[in-house]
Amino acid sequence: MSRLDHLFDRNLEWANRKTEHDPDFFRRMAEQQTPNYLWIGCSDSRVTANDVLGLDPGEVFVHRNIANIVHSSDMNVLAVLEFAIEVLKVRHVIVAGHYGCGGVQRAMADARGTLVDHWLQPLSIFFRTHRSAFDALVTDEHRLDRLCEINVEMQVRRVAATPIVEAAWGRGMELHLHGWIYGMHDGLLRDLGATLSSIQARDAAPAIDQRATASSEPLSARRRHAFEAFSAMGLDDMASAPCCTPPIADNKP
Ligand code: CO
Repeated sequence: MSRLDHLFDRNLEWANRKTEHDPDFFRRMAEQQTPNYLWIGCSDSRVTANDVLGLDPGEVFVHRNIANIVHSSDMNVLAVLEFAIEVLKVRHVIVAGHYGCGGVQRAMADARGTLVDHWLQPLSIFFRTHRSAFDALVTDEHRLDRLCEINVEMQVRRVAATPIVEAAWGRGMELHLHGWIYGMHDGLLRDLGATLSSIQARDAAPAIDQRATASSEPLSARRRHAFEAFSAMGLDDMASAPCCTPPIADNKP
């Protein structure tokens, strides 16, 4: 079968579902898009921005590539970034990686010589430079997931170094760059605490090379809610105590 008719049938079912309780849905969509967020994510078919965020079409502007890399000479991501900030006026740019990323895994491999290796070069150089820090981690899964986290932080810094973002901040525009990571094992997004909102904050951030040996405590909504519950009970210490981490842990085991 070469015509993929089943996809057109699914499209029809989807369009019908969308207008079942909201007849004007597509009329509104056709008039304009007003997304508040730019999502820079991995091309991985399991990590789709609208699904993960629970948002409708029109609510998030999206750029995706292998391992959510931001190259300073990539016209594609730069044009998307400029359009999102200057035309759509988004105030939040989210670099969203995911645990178990195959692209990040490739950057850790010894195999070389393909285009994707060239694409992943900044990450593979980082990994080789800090190999001893990664070797100190317990399992291959830990090593991969840690590099997935650091990759997000690295790309947030790269977004922050573009002339587009510098100009926006220079004009006093409100613009927040977020570093998040998604767990395919539980469907949860986690904030890596890498948010940058000004040139001053960017310049004050520790160099990415220093992050190789720093631990990270990603925060999902589930974990944040647990902290808030502990805090409301007057048990602030409980929320941060290592003893209480396992039941609400965000990290992969
Ligand atoms: Co990936």
